[in-house]
Amino acid sequence: MTIVVTGGAGFIGSNFVLEWLQHSDEPVINIDKLTYAGNLANLVSLENDSRHIFIRSDIADRSRISAVLAEHKPRLVLNFAAESHVDRSIHGPEEFIETNVVGTFRLLEATRAYWNTLEGTEKSGFRFLHVSTDEVYGSLNQHDAPFSETSRYEPNSPYSASKASSDHLVRAYHHTYGLPVLTTNCSNNYGPYHFPEKLIPLCIHNALAGKPLPVYGDGQQVRDWLYVKDHCSAIRRVVDGGAVGETYNIGGWNEMANLDLVRALCSVLDELSPRVDGLSYAEQITFVKDRPGHDRRYAIDASKIERELGWRPAETFETGLRKTVEWFLDNQAWVEGVTSGAYLTWVETQYQDGAVR
Ligand code: NAD
Ligand code: DAU
Repeated sequence: MTIVVTGGAGFIGSNFVLEWLQHSDEPVINIDKLTYAGNLANLVSLENDSRHIFIRSDIADRSRISAVLAEHKPRLVLNFAAESHVDRSIHGPEEFIETNVVGTFRLLEATRAYWNTLEGTEKSGFRFLHVSTDEVYGSLNQHDAPFSETSRYEPNSPYSASKASSDHLVRAYHHTYGLPVLTTNCSNNYGPYHFPEKLIPLCIHNALAGKPLPVYGDGQQVRDWLYVKDHCSAIRRVVDGGAVGETYNIGGWNEMANLDLVRALCSVLDELSPRVDGLSYAEQITFVKDRPGHDRRYAIDASKIERELGWRPAETFETGLRKTVEWFLDNQAWVEGVTSGAYLTWVETQYQDGAVR
């Protein structure tokens, strides 16, 4: 038995591959295009591990994907590959359409053709799991109920619209062709290997470099935060017990305003790596121009996955945040590796009117 993971050199995908091989000897075929967000350094511990086979490919390269599926005959395809950063989707939406929409479509086509060659229990046991986001549901007001699996899709950014499109394609391939799909919609992840363009790793990086911590707008936007390893365990649970054609919301039961989150992060940094002048890293917080179309609040009702599959997050925000800060402090070489070159161009583009430079 073998599984295919796409986007397995990115933040969540690499955590998933590492976790998977800690729990199982079932080999992983890892297909990744290695964009700026894909990093084989995340997987260096698997360098001599024959259970991990890395293939550099675009998920939109249908003939290549078909050849990989025919050769390795997986029982499961997990689709993590995506363009994932909302701010980049505002500056340049095209790549989001190419990968998240067209790429998912081609991957589905290749998978459908492969699945049609299977027979018996190989065919009935096959699964395609699509990893998606809570952003497809749009934005909540302060007193609205959290998103459930039946909440209406109302994506507001090019990123969330492209993810919503891919979710609809996945749904259609089940409804029309009977492809045995599962979809997960998860809230904001954080943890090891998080690329420092996203809020938490960006603030850790900037704090230690003595740079401003850029908070968009009034900092009162609310997100639900989940430690990445909890996301990985939830996906494993859905693979094992999820009902075909169903979607599962995954969240941390942990809503927090961005400003409170950055302050909490500063407190942990103050304790674990104090500033030489004795002041708090919170002194570096700087309010900058807001994200266009910024969604005000996300919140996830993760009771379905708990009720039906018995999953709850293992980490609280406090334990997860501490582990994350410790990981970044212990892995400064990794941070240096990913914050050179193209990263600098991005920071220049995104924060030109703000205070990061
Ligand atoms: P990421 O940007 O860190 O990694 C994406 C990976 O996909 C990279 O390794 C990249 O090289 C690869 N990739 C991009 N385009 C590709 C293509 N055309 N073909 C093959 N590989 C390609 O993203 P992430 O944060 O790890 O997110 C993974 C998935 O989880 C995405 O689908 C994202 O929408 C979803 N998600 C993310 C979060 C979050 O908080 N990060 C939350 C919920 C859902
Ligand atoms: O909700 C799930 C989504 O979470 C995933 O689908 C996305 O792939 C992932 O990138 C993440 O999206 P967000 O836009 O919520 O994450 P980000 O870390 O970019 O921003 C978190 C919040 O912090 C958001 O309200 C914007 C704000 N922010 C972000 C950055 C980068 C700032 O205030 N300052 C910043 O510099």
